[in-house]
Amino acid sequence: MASIFTVFILLSMFFACGRAEEKQFSHIQLGSALHPETPPMSWRSPSGHFEFGFYQQGNGFMVGIWLVGVGINNITVVWTASRDDPPVTRNATLNLTKDGLVLITEQGWEKLISARTSDSAYFAANMLDSGNFVLYNKSYSIIWETFSYPTDTILGGQFLSSGGQLFSNLSETNQSTGWYRLKMQYDGNLVLYPVNTVDDYSDAYWSSDTYKNGVVYYRLYLNDTGLLQIINSTRNSVKDLYSSSASNNINTIYRATLEINGFFRLYSHTYDETGTLNSSVIKWSALDDLCKVKGFCGFNSYCTLNDGKPYCLCLPGTDFIDANHKSLGCESDFLEVGCKDGREDVASYNINTTENMIWEDIPYMDVPMSTKEECGNSCLEDCNCGAALFIYSQCHKQKLPLRYVRRDSDKQTTAFFKVGLRSIKSWNESDHIPPVHVFTSKKVLVQVLVLILGFTAFSFLALGISGLFMFKIRVLRYKRLKESETLGMTLNIFSYDELKSATNGFKDELGKGSFGTVYKGNLYKGKKFVAVKKLEKLVEEGEREFRAEMQAIGRTHHKNLVRLLGYCAEGSKRLLVYEYISNGSLANILFKGVRRPDWDERVRITLDVARGILYLHEECKTPIIHCDIKPSNILMDEFWTAKISDFGLAKLLMPDQTRTFTMVRGTRGYMALEWQKNTPISVKADIYSYGIVLLEIICCRKNMDVNVSKPEEIVLSTWVYNCFVARELDRIVGNEEVDKRTLENMVKVALWCIQDEPILRPSMKSVVLMLEGITDVAVPPCPNSAST
Ligand SMILES: *[C@@H]1O[C@H](CO)[C@@H](O)[C@H](O)[C@H]1NC(C)=O
Ligand SMILES: *[C@@H]1O[C@H](CO)[C@@H](O)[C@H](O)[C@H]1NC(C)=O
Ligand SMILES: *[C@@H]1O[C@H](CO)[C@@H](O)[C@H](O)[C@H]1NC(C)=O
Ligand SMILES: *[C@@H]1O[C@H](CO)[C@@H](O)[C@H](O)[C@H]1NC(C)=O
Ligand SMILES: *[C@@H]1O[C@H](CO)[C@@H](O)[C@H](O)[C@H]1NC(C)=O
Ligand SMILES: *[C@@H]1O[C@H](CO)[C@@H](O)[C@H](O)[C@H]1NC(C)=O
Ligand SMILES: *[C@@H]1O[C@H](CO)[C@@H](O)[C@H](O)[C@H]1NC(C)=O
Ligand SMILES: *[C@@H]1O[C@H](CO)[C@@H](O)[C@H](O)[C@H]1NC(C)=O
Ligand SMILES: *[C@@H]1O[C@H](CO)[C@@H](O)[C@H](O)[C@H]1NC(C)=O
Ligand SMILES: *[C@@H]1O[C@H](CO)[C@@H](O)[C@H](O)[C@H]1NC(C)=O
Ligand SMILES: *[C@@H]1O[C@H](CO)[C@@H](O)[C@H](O)[C@H]1NC(C)=O
Repeated sequence: MASIFTVFILLSMFFACGRAEEKQFSHIQLGSALHPETPPMSWRSPSGHFEFGFYQQGNGFMVGIWLVGVGINNITVVWTASRDDPPVTRNATLNLTKDGLVLITEQGWEKLISARTSDSAYFAANMLDSGNFVLYNKSYSIIWETFSYPTDTILGGQFLSSGGQLFSNLSETNQSTGWYRLKMQYDGNLVLYPVNTVDDYSDAYWSSDTYKNGVVYYRLYLNDTGLLQIINSTRNSVKDLYSSSASNNINTIYRATLEINGFFRLYSHTYDETGTLNSSVIKWSALDDLCKVKGFCGFNSYCTLNDGKPYCLCLPGTDFIDANHKSLGCESDFLEVGCKDGREDVASYNINTTENMIWEDIPYMDVPMSTKEECGNSCLEDCNCGAALFIYSQCHKQKLPLRYVRRDSDKQTTAFFKVGLRSIKSWNESDHIPPVHVFTSKKVLVQVLVLILGFTAFSFLALGISGLFMFKIRVLRYKRLKESETLGMTLNIFSYDELKSATNGFKDELGKGSFGTVYKGNLYKGKKFVAVKKLEKLVEEGEREFRAEMQAIGRTHHKNLVRLLGYCAEGSKRLLVYEYISNGSLANILFKGVRRPDWDERVRITLDVARGILYLHEECKTPIIHCDIKPSNILMDEFWTAKISDFGLAKLLMPDQTRTFTMVRGTRGYMALEWQKNTPISVKADIYSYGIVLLEIICCRKNMDVNVSKPEEIVLSTWVYNCFVARELDRIVGNEEVDKRTLENMVKVALWCIQDEPILRPSMKSVVLMLEGITDVAVPPCPNSAST
């Protein structure tokens, strides 16, 4: 009897232990369900600090994870499922099935929240104390976890993987994708950007300065005790962003969040023994000045702090687009006077000089200058210049609209703004030329508006921790950001799959070039259009050489060159990602008559193209011979600015540009004679092609055209030379009203460019000076005289 009793006691103890153990691992079983308003509404973590379930957003509900007791309504959402989908109604259900977490809406739609990532079926789930919601298979291996899909927050123990991003909330009460992103780049840098940008340093407003040349699989990691660091693939620290000195308090939860206003901050939340929140502290912030967050103020306006609060004001010479919505930005309030023969009408403008103003946009021209005054005058005289910034003895000239401008009393800078003397206000009474609005893009306006509304809601968070110390760091950072440009941090590395999905499986073909086919695509949820070029017929080349080439191209920044945004080099696949240029090629507008540009516009285009080539030949770090200048390689952007594409690629096909090539590249009709003669190719080959393009722009026809009325007109270059000698240049432009002196000047330049003998052709620098009318043009000899 006693022994039976003992067995009974032992058995009951055994069961008790078993139960205790079961409770400790109280998994959520298959078949469990949650509802928005009838219990169970959420699953809690054992500590009670985190909950997974439905939370209210607007009149509906979203599924997510939140921290209990912190923030508005006592919850702070740290993860959301399908954040950009509309909220569901109160009759929705969330079921845990063997296929995963299924959200069933009132209408009966089923949405799988946890995609299957392994072959095995789901068996149970758990809300862990770390804030990670996990799904197990039958052998209790974690096969899905919310920590792998961060939204705007990472928690203690969580990583932001290489290539991963956090996106800010839209507003305090709306968790959908907002206006800022934090990216852990493949190049090792952790960078903050406004959301509708590509990974370009000119849009970055903070970086961790951990850039490495090439692909490194760095990750951002927050450990349980508040150590925020960037680690390499062997988990060694590359840089500690924040390390705590406090003792390990198991009652403290750390979270690093990209906030609505664009700040990236680390918080600690400490609970007392009873589990109620005792304190919330900001431990670290990536930056502390709201005016440094790019995109806070609209175009042509600048950000300035007043009592720690940011305000947007208009630049000199501009006025609010809408005085009731200052965040929309500003537009110029004077009439632009057209540029005559490449020279500015200086009497129509004033220069306004303002100190302590700074912007970090890419200038179209940087010139070393010894005095401020020189810089201001140089802007006044340059038709393209809208503003100039004098800093570190450099004059950075900029076109309007300006972005990312701010006032910073710590900055020893002088900014110059060109202000027209005839205001738009006085125009109504006087004459009747329509005013030129420098800036208006509805889409951008709307974006900026929404952005700012978000900000106003959150501006109370703008507690600045200013001081000399932070200033020093900022200056250093600014310098490093500048330096990283030369290192080539600007380029984004894409995976093949990323580009495949960006182009919708390479569906939308934009055209075929000498190097491969170009497809239209979009990145960042359709917010940025790009052109993706699939390279074909490449010389066998290692990945490293290819990357080096790409970095060289990526370093080029000029307003008349198409920007390379990134590339992909995976196995034998080579793809380039360019900015998307909306108005097609010059060939289309010149030859297809889609929209024949008028004379002034054509004159401007010839200069645009010449300046682009000049930059390639003489102004960028590694001189680049284009080798294939032709109208179909010149693209027109939304402002009808010409941009040269496909530069720097010739080298990929022909390893050494200066040697003799066996394979003829280039395009017939634009090729200089030396291509056929096996003589070395130099920059002069591009000059020849430019000469032909110049003639084609002047006459709006192809160099070779058999559909002309008279046989002597078939070859344009020959016909133009004959007309020039006969002093009958009028004939080549037909009935069109053109400025005769400009016409003759341009023809003479073109005839010099197409000389058979390379030595006779001018350099690009001389071409630009001659076209601008700064140097005179001698009478050219017959282009073929040297060889005949
Ligand atoms: C959140 O913002 C998105 C985008 O503006 C909007 O479509 C959605 O209706 C908003 N949700 C709520 C609950 O306000
Ligand atoms: C938040 O929690 C505090 C204390 O726990 C409580 O007094 C307060 O009513 C709660 N607020 C809301 C909106 O639930
Ligand atoms: C994001 O939105 C959720 C509610 O929609 C809120 O709980 C959370 O605090 C917000 N995050 C930030 C950083 O404002
Ligand atoms: C939810 O369902 C009930 C009955 O099934 C219905 O009366 C109610 O209107 C529904 N609620 C909403 C918000 O649609
Ligand atoms: C989801 O759960 C609810 C409540 O447990 C149940 O009535 C419903 O049949 C489940 N649906 C599915 C598809 O499993
Ligand atoms: C659970 O997943 C782990 C890891 O993926 C795997 O090794 C194991 O075989 C799976 N177990 C079952 C029962 O599928
Ligand atoms: C977190 O980092 C600290 C160093 O600051 C270290 O002492 C601690 O062991 C780390 N915690 C974990 C869980 O790795
Ligand atoms: C990571 O960093 C450590 C220490 O700097 C270094 O020894 C290790 O080689 C690095 N690992 C990789 C994969 O670069
Ligand atoms: C709560 O915070 C106060 C000061 O912020 C501190 O003095 C106190 O010790 C804390 N209590 C606990 C239980 O941590
Ligand atoms: C420059 O512009 C600012 C702002 O519009 C104005 O306050 C200032 O007086 C101007 N300075 C000069 C010298 O015109
Ligand atoms: C000028 O005239 C246009 C319409 O003719 C009007 O919309 C605009 O407000 C006027 N501007 C000023 C400054 O009077």
